[in-house]
Amino acid sequence: MPAEARARAEELRALILHHNELYHVLDAPEIPDAEYDLLVVELRRLESDFPELASPDSPTQTVGAAPSGLFREVRHRVPMMSLDNAFDEDELRAWGGRLVRAVPTLDLETVPFSSEPKVDGVAMSLTYERGRLVQAATRGDGVSGEDVTPNVATVKDVPGELARRGGPYPDVLEVRGEIYMPVADFEAMNKRQADAGERLFVNPRNSAAGALRQKDPSITAQRPLHFWAYAVGFVDGGPGASAWPAASQSEILAQLERAGFPVSPDARRVVGMAAVIARCRELAEARHSLAYEIDGVVNKVDELALHDSLGATSRAPRWAIAFKFPPEERTTRLVDIMVSIGRTGRATPFARLEPVFVGGSTVGVATLHNEDQVAIKDVRPGDLVIVRKAGDVIPEVVGPVKEGPGVPARRKPKWKFPTACPSCGQPLVRLPGESDTYCTNIDCPAQRVQRIAHYASRAAMDIEGLGEERVLQLVGAGLVDDPADLYELAVEQLVRLERFGTVSAGNLVAAIDASRSQPLSRLLVALGIRHVGPTGARAVARAFGTLDAVVAASQAELAAVDGVGEVIAASLAEFLSADSNVGVIERLRRSGVNTEEPGTAGTMAGGEGAVATALAKTLEGKTVVVTGTVPGYTREEAEEAIVSRGGKSPGSVSKRTFALVVGDGPGASKTKKADELGIPTVDGSFFDALLETGELPGSPGQR
Ligand code: IVH
Repeated sequence: MPAEARARAEELRALILHHNELYHVLDAPEIPDAEYDLLVVELRRLESDFPELASPDSPTQTVGAAPSGLFREVRHRVPMMSLDNAFDEDELRAWGGRLVRAVPTLDLETVPFSSEPKVDGVAMSLTYERGRLVQAATRGDGVSGEDVTPNVATVKDVPGELARRGGPYPDVLEVRGEIYMPVADFEAMNKRQADAGERLFVNPRNSAAGALRQKDPSITAQRPLHFWAYAVGFVDGGPGASAWPAASQSEILAQLERAGFPVSPDARRVVGMAAVIARCRELAEARHSLAYEIDGVVNKVDELALHDSLGATSRAPRWAIAFKFPPEERTTRLVDIMVSIGRTGRATPFARLEPVFVGGSTVGVATLHNEDQVAIKDVRPGDLVIVRKAGDVIPEVVGPVKEGPGVPARRKPKWKFPTACPSCGQPLVRLPGESDTYCTNIDCPAQRVQRIAHYASRAAMDIEGLGEERVLQLVGAGLVDDPADLYELAVEQLVRLERFGTVSAGNLVAAIDASRSQPLSRLLVALGIRHVGPTGARAVARAFGTLDAVVAASQAELAAVDGVGEVIAASLAEFLSADSNVGVIERLRRSGVNTEEPGTAGTMAGGEGAVATALAKTLEGKTVVVTGTVPGYTREEAEEAIVSRGGKSPGSVSKRTFALVVGDGPGASKTKKADELGIPTVDGSFFDALLETGELPGSPGQR
């Protein structure tokens, strides 16, 4: 087997694990679903060409990502599997062929299937004991998921008790389905967010996932979540145990409906493979007229007896397949091509577009990847271009429209990649044989900002309140050059800057201080080492326990760690041997940043992860609602400031609300409600005072 094949497989596995984590744990995918699918397809092909590459823990053999740790972990009594994909009709037919090979008596012309829309939401397992909902869990990695019962209990479609007419029921009945957000509700919610000057949600699936991951169920309750049941998982004991599940998938859907669950009105029992294909075409056509987003059609052999004969692989049943729709496309005007500088100095060209609505959200910018891609696509400012949003995540410019209305009579000249960095003005460099162009100036302000913002980000050191804008401000003011400088920041320096009060400055310093005790795995992510994401970092940190041990390890020792491999090992070794990196690490260490992984050999006993900042609990038991933008705070920061002082900060005003903080661009509904209920309002400029004292500033009811 060629060495490149092994290296590429390692690389693909690392990439896939990284994207799994972004999608399933952080709800923050970075690449379109279709691109992700291609990585999996490539890895699967390599593993089948070179069987010695196959391994049971390869992402081709597993499902999703392990739980995030935010909620209690629950083990599924029956694993929640994934589905294999078919990207075109030939692949659907090939699946038919596999069915017949596995069960030769099966006749593709007469066998019934259940064809169901593949609604784009979050898979959910609901456990009912003696008819009562006792647990709701996410899929997680298929073996264990997260217990989100209080959140799911707020979803009206999910019955708290099974309907009497559908009984008798088994003592334990696990129902599976999808939590989703209808497109119209999603858009209305985003309109409310926009009107209130608040952050917009990316797409219905992400909004649903985010809503389920709330620590406060009252926030989940305000989100327009719905549920469709499509399967029965575990069944045990009681009078109904023999009747559940019914003998076929289509009967199970009817059974679930009688039990009180909503079931997709667009699921059909169809007979024969030709009818399956016809139904897939029909749904692809109807895709945009449906009230909810679907990314494909799930086709299941109807009879459960056949499921047993067909069986499953480690990650997916053989009796079902997901027919995936091709990505969505729209046309719009390309206004300009610009270049952004990332934390590694990579210069990425991107298109500024006239905003266009595609795949459930409005797109104004789209990546163009690199110089060659711009040349290959030959897109130029002023062009009418096709924009694709595969998986409804990252939009991409496909290419210019060549003729027809809206196409410019004379095109602008070919776009040229800039020769100087737009941030620092130093020359941009493209090495022979490489596709990427870099700003190699270590002191480039754009890189610096990106590196520090990455260090502080949620997946890394998780420094609350230190987003890109704040970093830009700190770097601009000459206060920080690299992550180690953060630990030198003093409240007195910050209060001299715009948009900082004593309290917000104190909060930031406290949050930075708290990050000192983050575990080594987060520090490794924070350093921004190429290929080292949360999964790889955890594997390394657990294996070595301390940063010293990681530094002392040889590349071969690093590569030998389960879940690491050659690509990550080489990148780590290279990073840790560069003098400038060693310098920053030394300064971080001297600033008191923890370099050990708690709970591993070689670390101090009782080591803990992040410790909560010791802030006075001035708002203990008080509910403070925020509307509009409070100066100096993002939405999340304002809420976090309230919560970290013992308060609650739900998204709407009720009679229990202590105060409504009114920032810039407040939402009409919250202020109106506060007026009606006689809830005191506090001007945003008094927010810091409110945090500090826990009392209403000035006279009661002051605006
Ligand atoms: S059946 C073992 N039916 O698709 C079969 N899944 O990639 C498991 N999905 O995790 C799923 N609509 O989140 C099934 N009608 C449907 C579905 C559906 C959406 C999702 C579900 C699952 C994923 C598989």
